[in-house]
Amino acid sequence: MSDKAKLVLGEKTIELPIFTGTEGEKAIDITKLRAETGFVTLDSGYMNTGACTSSITFLDGEVGILKYRGYSIEEIAEKSSFLESSYLVFYGKLPTAQELKAFEERIASFDDVPEGIKQQIKAFPKNAHPMAVLSSNMVSLSAFYEELCAQDLTPAQKDTAIAQLMGQLKVVAAYAYRHSQGKEFVKSDKSLDYCSDFIHMMTGDKNVNKEVAKALDILLILHVDHEQNCSTSSVRMVGSSKANIFATISAGVDALWGPLHGGANQAVLEMLEEIKNSGKGYEAFLAEVKDKNSNSRLMGFGHRVYKNFDPRAKIIKVACDKVLATLGVKDPLLDIAKGLEEVALKDEYFVSRKLYPNVDFYSGIIYRALGIPTNMFTVMFAMGRLPGWMAQWKEMVEQPGFKICRPRQIYTGDTKNTYKDIKSR
Ligand code: ACO
Repeated sequence: MSDKAKLVLGEKTIELPIFTGTEGEKAIDITKLRAETGFVTLDSGYMNTGACTSSITFLDGEVGILKYRGYSIEEIAEKSSFLESSYLVFYGKLPTAQELKAFEERIASFDDVPEGIKQQIKAFPKNAHPMAVLSSNMVSLSAFYEELCAQDLTPAQKDTAIAQLMGQLKVVAAYAYRHSQGKEFVKSDKSLDYCSDFIHMMTGDKNVNKEVAKALDILLILHVDHEQNCSTSSVRMVGSSKANIFATISAGVDALWGPLHGGANQAVLEMLEEIKNSGKGYEAFLAEVKDKNSNSRLMGFGHRVYKNFDPRAKIIKVACDKVLATLGVKDPLLDIAKGLEEVALKDEYFVSRKLYPNVDFYSGIIYRALGIPTNMFTVMFAMGRLPGWMAQWKEMVEQPGFKICRPRQIYTGDTKNTYKDIKSR
């Protein structure tokens, strides 16, 4: 195959370079398209647009492959830890034992937030959604750490930023939860690992079940990065204006909150509860979902990229069975989820559209078994995705040819209106 694509526009033919990624993915490089032809591309929802090159995560949705820095998600989930895989995506290599220890200790050293942030969390209504508390407090941190708000961070400042944000996001998340329960904040305990400490800060109990902490660690690993999804693209978009790192991450939290993205884990649980409480059978519920007038979707199903299966969902399903068995929890919602999956996977509507369970279909059931309340699910996702956002931001700002992200549009509005005085409208 030629390394150039030919584009014929009327009388004019131009050649566009073909770019090939390390896994063989091909792209037509249109960088010079507008300059040479006056045309731009139109790609609603970015279905065909590669917004950047990246060496962090590879996924092949047709066959269900996900790799962080070349390591398969199955191997990482089995052998690594959340903090080690965070190091891997951010620094691009697996750490030595010494590097990992230093990274863990650095994160643990950010074990609290300034008094002003604590006051701000306490000022929220108790029923505030924890994602609102998280998003606003992530950006508020910028008011307290001026040195990390510089336009260009030094390598040492970037090292601080990843450790500080990972440490403090955990603190804000736990404090937000405690506040919603009308309870005092629980101080972090550095002797505990990241996940155990988070559970301790939520529950106030230092005796965290090892299996529970391990299950949470696996869930966080599975969320670490997922190439150019909606929240990561938002992080790149906002970060490309050289907004500070706290504002940039806060934008990722906001994008993640939507039910079509990270908010789906909460929506799945609510859907399962509704099916249980209404006594609707799976068939009746699925008929509703398939009805184009109903506006309802089978939450936790479907993915923009995965059209075969989501490898994270496979790992989660196994982890889910294991956690429930270990904890001796029998959850009727798990039976409903499994029943729905079984029926949907045989249904022509889902089969023909290549709709499979995604990462969020079973994660909520595990969170529930671990004692994490439903409105905290998306916060857990944010905690897992933070290192990916940080890695993608770092990669972007360090890439040669870095530019502010600024798409074009094709205008379709009125072309010539004449201003009318307000009295005569
Ligand atoms: N339930 C029912 N129908 C669905 C679903 C679903 N969950 N997902 C897609 N469809 C249908 C659409 O109605 C559409 O049908 P049509 O061709 O007859 O019009 C077709 O499948 C294609 O769907 P799109 O919305 O065009 O697919 P897109 O790639 O834009 O959306 C998305 C992907 C947003 C994930 C979608 O599948 C969805 O809404 N799923 C439910 C929400 C969810 O679980 N989100 C989490 C995604 S994973 C993550 O972000 C962590």
